[in-house]
Amino acid sequence: MNILLLGSGGREHALAWKMADSPLTERLYCAPGNAGIAQQAQCVSLDLTDHTAIVAFCREHRIDLVVVGPEAPLCAGIVDDLESAGVKAFGPSRAAAQLERSKGFTKDLCRANGIPTAAYERFKHAPAAKAYIRSHGAPIVVKADGLAAGKGVIVAQSEAEAEAAVDMMFGGGLGEAGGEVVIEEFLDGEEASFFALCDGETAIPLATAQDHKRAFDGDKGPNTGGMGAYSPAPNIDAEMSDRIMNDIIAPTMRATKAIGTPYKGVLYAGLMITRHGPKLIEYNARFGDPETQVLMPRLMSDLVPALLASRDGVLKSFDLRWYETPALTVVMAARGYPGHYARGTVIEGLDEAAAVEGVQIFHAGTKAEGGRILANGGRVLNVSATGKTVRKAQARAYAAIARIRWPEGFYRRDIGWRAVERETSA
Ligand SMILES: Nc1ncnc2c1ncn2[C@@H]1O[C@H](COP(=O)(O)OP(=O)(O)O)[C@@H](O)[C@H]1O
Ligand SMILES: [Mg+2]
Repeated sequence: MNILLLGSGGREHALAWKMADSPLTERLYCAPGNAGIAQQAQCVSLDLTDHTAIVAFCREHRIDLVVVGPEAPLCAGIVDDLESAGVKAFGPSRAAAQLERSKGFTKDLCRANGIPTAAYERFKHAPAAKAYIRSHGAPIVVKADGLAAGKGVIVAQSEAEAEAAVDMMFGGGLGEAGGEVVIEEFLDGEEASFFALCDGETAIPLATAQDHKRAFDGDKGPNTGGMGAYSPAPNIDAEMSDRIMNDIIAPTMRATKAIGTPYKGVLYAGLMITRHGPKLIEYNARFGDPETQVLMPRLMSDLVPALLASRDGVLKSFDLRWYETPALTVVMAARGYPGHYARGTVIEGLDEAAAVEGVQIFHAGTKAEGGRILANGGRVLNVSATGKTVRKAQARAYAAIARIRWPEGFYRRDIGWRAVERETSA
């Protein structure tokens, strides 16, 4: 098969690395890709917003399957446009991607189908939103309805903070994404990410993960796209996984099918595991980043037939095998991220780092120039490792990082601390 992967981050490098391994893969292209992806795929400079150009590329290069990494093209209908041009594409339709594009839509779907989630209301105007905040009190959570690149959620500790968030959102602080807000109950518990593969009818569980969103050690500092992750999530055992499939994922599959927008692709559930069981925080319509960088090293089965089965609607009798061993990834970012940072600094030592046993380095924001690897983004590298325990995987990842020479980069030194603490006390 000739496969075109869309995207340019660490998630896409992990997918490219896994798909390049498949005996089914003849040619692998990636648009636009990065310096690491170029080791497994031929990178092509296509504009992901130009669907006509992507369709033309697929025809010219006889692409048998397009795999979409990020949410933006999915929400813009890339799968619809490819499929109507006769090109097979992995991922949800624009209508099905509404599960990620609109938090209000997902909340209503939960309410109508008895899917456990925080109590909430949707608002289009500030006065009603503020009245709701005052009647419920803090802590309370204010969310922009639309896509806000991780900046659309305020977990407010006081009513004043929640009201300020409402003013910011309705004041246009998040653009169109904040034209409507969801205000919801604060959930107490421990978070986890749960990934399922769906074909419009059937969903099968993939694996679980936990991530670290804050920039600095001790889960302090500003929010980021994610500074590290590990899989599996220690708070989801087999019984909890069944419960999540039965109470959350399966009813979502039935409900989306019933309203005429059957869900295909990866369904990524952000969950809070509370005293009263698992509750849905949000859905994403794609693989996670950096979670994919710990899922792919744990996947024993071939990924390509699984993606095809999702697209073709034949997941019912499909079986995926996973390694039991945990995986952990540490993100190396450019100093200053998530604020202002420099591009073009030189990274050395990657080959020595990759030689550490069990380590796989995924590039997130890099480019190759004159035989050197340069930083080309905020999150730049993902150093992933597997090991018999999370602690072992963690030690391997940090041993690899010690071999990387990049003075303009930084990383957290405590990725996986919660899981390691659990292992130590067990
Ligand atoms: N109801 C809630 N109770 C407690 N924390 C929440 C709640 N909703 C969201 N959060 C916190 O805010 C983070 C971001 O919220 P989420 O809905 O996942 O939005 P996004 O990922 O689109 O920014 C979550 O990972 C969680 O830490
Ligand atoms: Mg989230």
